[in-house]
Amino acid sequence: MGAHTGSEHGKSNKGPAPQKIRLKVRRQDGPDSPPYWQEFSVPYQPGHNVLSVLMELRKDPVDVTGKRVEPIVWEASCLEQVCGACSMIVNGKVRQGCTALVDDLEQPIVLEPMDKFPIIRDLAVDRSRMFENLKRIKGWIEIDGSHDLGPGPRQDPAESLVRYSLSTCMTCGVCLQVCPQYGPQSKFVGAQVLSQVRLFNSHPTGSFDANERLDAVMGEGGVEDCGNSQNCVKACPKNIPLTESIAKIGRDASVRGFKKFFGL
Ligand code: SF4
Ligand code: FES
Repeated sequence: MGAHTGSEHGKSNKGPAPQKIRLKVRRQDGPDSPPYWQEFSVPYQPGHNVLSVLMELRKDPVDVTGKRVEPIVWEASCLEQVCGACSMIVNGKVRQGCTALVDDLEQPIVLEPMDKFPIIRDLAVDRSRMFENLKRIKGWIEIDGSHDLGPGPRQDPAESLVRYSLSTCMTCGVCLQVCPQYGPQSKFVGAQVLSQVRLFNSHPTGSFDANERLDAVMGEGGVEDCGNSQNCVKACPKNIPLTESIAKIGRDASVRGFKKFFGL
């Protein structure tokens, strides 16, 4: 499997609805087990998406040969492309299973786990590297207690709109899956966390910790390791301006490095 930059495989030609939904799933029993393929078929119903097909299959996990198998494991929560948990490779394109509509997909629908993350089982992967990176960059805004702090600083509505866009990141991992620089072989933190540095550093209160965040993404694995493939921005399901974020953090990190060097 290479980088799944996601040319859209497969919109089906409109025609009579199929009687069956055929599925081919790359399975793996555990983190260190060998992968294998299984094929399934479930009765067609209009409006199905990949996750609802997997749920249907879980009721009666039998493969196309009639053999009873272990139910397929995957992760999901919101079912509406908000939580980011159900990212997987669907017909060669990394995306959320909950919004991958069966009627738009070529069959058999081929499902694979994202391969830039450790596999837990079947389609479920361990995305904790992203959450650890968020801790590293202090991906939050410090407040001192929950008492009344009075009104917050005034904010420019145009900047707030940009921040809103950045804040929609659902830690889904799609931008990292398609990034040639990101993976188990490298320490590169990737577009997702760099964009969160931009989000919190541009917030009037969050900016108090701006230098600490920049320090966390300088040096090995930091913003300079971006290879500018721009795959991330094309693949992000939330249309977050990731390359703008990387450019902004790159500039800010250079200024920070310069000031540190001269002890300013
Ligand atoms: S930046 Fe976009 S693709 Fe990357 S984790 Fe966030 S929502 Fe997913
Ligand atoms: S289940 Fe939350 S994004 Fe798909």
